[in-house]
Amino acid sequence: MSISPISLSSAFDRISAKVDALFEVLLASPDDTRARLYDAMRHAAIGGGKRLRPLLLVSTAELFGVDRDAAVRAGCAVEAIHVYSLIHDDLPAMDDDDLRRGKPTVHKAYDDATAVLAGDSLHALAFEILADEAVHADPFLRIELVRVLAEASGPSGMAGGQMMDLEAGKSAYDLNTVTRLQQLKTGALISAAIEMGAVLGRASDEIHLALRGYARDIGLAFQIADDLIDVEGDEEKAGKALRKDEGQGKETFVTLLGPARAREQARMLTEQAIGHLRGFGAEAELLRALARFIVERDR
Ligand code: IPE
Ligand code: IPE
Ligand code: MG
Ligand code: MG
Ligand code: MG
Repeated sequence: MSISPISLSSAFDRISAKVDALFEVLLASPDDTRARLYDAMRHAAIGGGKRLRPLLLVSTAELFGVDRDAAVRAGCAVEAIHVYSLIHDDLPAMDDDDLRRGKPTVHKAYDDATAVLAGDSLHALAFEILADEAVHADPFLRIELVRVLAEASGPSGMAGGQMMDLEAGKSAYDLNTVTRLQQLKTGALISAAIEMGAVLGRASDEIHLALRGYARDIGLAFQIADDLIDVEGDEEKAGKALRKDEGQGKETFVTLLGPARAREQARMLTEQAIGHLRGFGAEAELLRALARFIVERDR
């Protein structure tokens, strides 16, 4: 049995609606001069993006019959980190982009200082969500979620990868270094989403290991696809400026291998990722479909 493109797209629609609804509640604008900050956070967090990380978390948690609303909350925590990272990534001091998710970036719609604060606040919100007992009654489990997300976000994860990315224009990176960069910059947060689903489900060590293998492979495949979209994609569909990587003199999988071999590598990683799920039956079909989606996507 495999998932039809229609049910994959309705899974994306369902999670998007849930994530939007929760952010609506969490980011209700106050009636004072902080409203601008909340509005900027809402601009970035509500009504856009694929919501891939929450969907990965919820789909993993579903393998273990975890309560869906609790998993959506944890998914929103990961999405809050992701959205903060996009706000900061787009700032003039970083990639200097004007368009994100088909809308003006936060510093364009507001200003640089507000964008910095909106990113900071979403970063904090992520951990506030995880500390709330609505995610899980067991405080030890909540701390484990916090640990996984914090590690994936900081210098040994996403922020570290962003630093390597900033340095990439200065020295020529080889394939190993680019792989490491991508695993940190993008792979770490994607892996965290899956890991957190497994933590919520109190997965056995053996299952954790299989899911970690799956996560590592799709994380890398995801960033190869992002780099391919940067070179070959359509800005309208992607909702962001493309053709940026080459102009910045950065080595990526695509500059190192060429688009054809990069795509081949991404497809190979997808097959490998699906192989890690061999111990699961039909209940993992959504995760298999997501692995395929990640490399074939155009946005
Ligand atoms: C874009 O991530 C930034 C990277 C980490 C490469 P996504 O492609 O998941 O962006 P959204 O969430 O759909 O906007
Ligand atoms: C950003 O990578 C990854 C983050 C951690 C935000 P990119 O700079 O390649 O992402 P896009 O292409 O702007 O979405
Ligand atoms: Mg960047
Ligand atoms: Mg960027
Ligand atoms: Mg990119």
